[in-house]
Amino acid sequence: MSEGATKKEEKPRKFQAIRGTRDLLPPETALWNRVEQTAHQVFATFGFGEIRLPAVETLGLFARSLGAETDIVGKEMFLLAEREPSVVVHPGRFGPPPQSEQDRRDEVPPVFSEPSMRESVERQIAESVLVLRPEATASVCRAYIEHNMQQMPQPVKLYYMGPMFRRERPQKGRYRQFYQIGAEVLGGSDAPAIDAEVIEMVMTFFDRLELQGIQLDINSIGDRNCRPKYVELLRAELLKVKDKLGADSQRRIETNPLRVLDSKLESEQPVIAKLPRIADHLCEDCKTHYAEVKRQLDLRGVKYHENWRLVRGLDYYMRTTFEITAQGLGSQNAVCGGGRYDGLVELLGGPPTKGIGFAIGEDRLILSLQESGKAPAQQGRDVYIAWMGERAQATGIRAAKDLRKAGFSVELPSVEQKFGKALGQADKLGAKYALILGDNEVSEGLWTLKTLADGSQAKCTEPDLLEYLRKQRALSP
Ligand code: HAM
Repeated sequence: MSEGATKKEEKPRKFQAIRGTRDLLPPETALWNRVEQTAHQVFATFGFGEIRLPAVETLGLFARSLGAETDIVGKEMFLLAEREPSVVVHPGRFGPPPQSEQDRRDEVPPVFSEPSMRESVERQIAESVLVLRPEATASVCRAYIEHNMQQMPQPVKLYYMGPMFRRERPQKGRYRQFYQIGAEVLGGSDAPAIDAEVIEMVMTFFDRLELQGIQLDINSIGDRNCRPKYVELLRAELLKVKDKLGADSQRRIETNPLRVLDSKLESEQPVIAKLPRIADHLCEDCKTHYAEVKRQLDLRGVKYHENWRLVRGLDYYMRTTFEITAQGLGSQNAVCGGGRYDGLVELLGGPPTKGIGFAIGEDRLILSLQESGKAPAQQGRDVYIAWMGERAQATGIRAAKDLRKAGFSVELPSVEQKFGKALGQADKLGAKYALILGDNEVSEGLWTLKTLADGSQAKCTEPDLLEYLRKQRALSP
């Protein structure tokens, strides 16, 4: 082998963020921090406390909560491979590890779509397979049960923020690792004022961020009394028009007819428009609840748009569902989704509990803010300290310490630079001021402060400098 070929082979491999994940860099991260800080502030004013949850849970938690037939559980979950697996994990299918070559050749059945699979095996797999969480409502309910939160003052109001994971096809506004900011209210009451206040809170948050072009859609999808009857009616009507539907919707007639209402396929729209509407099939209790949610939203001055086709994709929802869209996002324009999920805590083995909440897609929220020009262009510095000489460096270190203590951001170059070069660097970093420290300045105790926007210069003592910068900060918007 030639030397060149060996060298080529040795070239280290370049690592890249995996498909659907990305690095968030400054200055964009400053906007992420502002958004999260605003969430902490606004949610606290509504009496919510933060819960921090693990990113890893068991597959069973989500299969049980979201529903085995949902896209998230069926196709999009990231399963964690173990070093010594108790089950074998293939993308989308998993089962007990093969014991022999013959076993290996026999396909392992897909776990949640193969009815012949014994229930106990299914449970064992669901409990031992670990997954990256695709959402956090199920985790909040698990935590509510685990920590006996029904004994806390009711209702329990929690919020969370952090990464979620779904193996979806990546596109603008859709990632495999994405971030949510969510909130949940759990307790004994399903008063419609709770639904309205949760929605009011997220709208207040968006308002505080000056998010543009937002629309709130609401609906009620009934409860276990009235929804099954409506679903059957819908299924019967869909069967009549089956040949006018695409393959996905045809499949959903069997698995989850409500999801057909979600379809964006152009050719299906005239068919869907003629389908029976759930609002006309709600039981008295659900009808009254929905009417009161709307009245409570009116009382709070929250504007909404009723959308009978808003069914949401997860099994745990009942009664109130809502979604918020914002501008500048293309097809992935939902920045927030939520709804009521009474009974989910019970389904997970806890006491009878009512629940409602939402999750905001933080990536999409940030995209929309950037599109409407609400993002900081550059993370500038307040002061760049240009120093020359050993004594000047010592003075610079002291000045940086005092300025930072007063809350100013300061860049102190680590090596000596000619003043011309230092000022160029200060400009590049978007600094507002350059503090010039040379021998003269240090021995006279009179420092030079240059305002970079207009090039003006002034001499000042150390206390003058702090005083002046504080005044300027108070004046700036
Ligand atoms: P979800 O509708 O699945 O609901 O997600 C909520 C929001 O997360 C979406 O509206 C969207 O903004 C964002 N999102 C979802 N998937 C992605 C993705 N692949 N890339 C970027 N953003 C995404 C839930 O997760 C429920 N747990 C919400 C909830 C809380 N319901 C009641 N409480």
